[in-house]
Amino acid sequence: MHDPPPATVVDALGWATEQLDAGGVPGPRREALDLWSVVTAVDPVVALARPSAPVPQAQWQHFKAAVDRRVEGEPLAYAVGRASFRTLELKVNRSVLIPRPETEGLVQAVLDWSQARSRAGTVADIGTGSGCIALSLAAEGAFDRIIATDVSEEAVSIATRNMALLRLTRNVEFRLGDLLSPLRLEVFDVIVSNPPYVTAEEFTRLDPAVRDFEPRAALVSGQKGMWHTSQLLQRAGSHLTPGGLIALEIDARRARDALHLAVQAGWDSPHIERDVFGRDRYLLARNPLTRTPGRSAR
Ligand SMILES: C[S@@+](CC[C@H](N)C(=O)[O-])C[C@H]1O[C@@H](n2cnc3c(N)ncnc32)[C@H](O)[C@@H]1O
Repeated sequence: MHDPPPATVVDALGWATEQLDAGGVPGPRREALDLWSVVTAVDPVVALARPSAPVPQAQWQHFKAAVDRRVEGEPLAYAVGRASFRTLELKVNRSVLIPRPETEGLVQAVLDWSQARSRAGTVADIGTGSGCIALSLAAEGAFDRIIATDVSEEAVSIATRNMALLRLTRNVEFRLGDLLSPLRLEVFDVIVSNPPYVTAEEFTRLDPAVRDFEPRAALVSGQKGMWHTSQLLQRAGSHLTPGGLIALEIDARRARDALHLAVQAGWDSPHIERDVFGRDRYLLARNPLTRTPGRSAR
């Protein structure tokens, strides 16, 4: 048996504001409006202009479920099953990380690099999650070929679904498997990754909205938070063309360690770039044209 919907939009928003406020959700009015807007696909400005519009039963059930999930502490993106990333609207659930704004900057760094070349070439995205990086590169770039991998079957399935929903003109090939293994013997012009980079101890101190809802395997990278970064820096060279780009999102607290690893592994011109919040967030480096023996990134 479904609850009957409140008579009007203003009643639904009033009910939601009370629930969210009682549940300790900050900014409950704004939150109620945002939830309403995502669930109904109606711009908040339009909703505000028609406060006495009736509330259809199906939308009410969906809205009520999303409000209940927010009251339980679940992040908004999971509560509504959607997240925005650059130009895209992506489907998300608790098997994939909610795409972050800093990762939008990682995509920008790759686009800037590819636009400065005569041809964009090919790209591999490692640990694709919702597919946000690979699908944005497909939507905004001019790459000849894009492959994206993840060790999580659920992630590959959501990313594949996102591609189908987006109906992009350029396809991404999603592959299941550990780090670079799904690339087999193939070589790319760019390898990009936002790998897990939180330490096991930091994970225990994360905001509960992250720790209790987002997948641990998408966040934690061993005791020191560097396992994935280190593996990629040691092994990605053999999957890149000479002069090809590696672009990794990193934890600002370990930017120096990441840079040190890149130097040790023999990458050319490794450097750190900052995100839009001024934090050291991206490690960029080129595959050397020739490798010095003993300093292999392979
Ligand atoms: C920080 S999330 C990033 C997801 C997405 N690229 C984004 O930026 O929102 C890291 C992703 O790496 C995947 N992952 C973790 N370990 C992996 C491994 N050994 N091989 C491939 N993917 C892995 C996780 O499943 C997760 O989807």
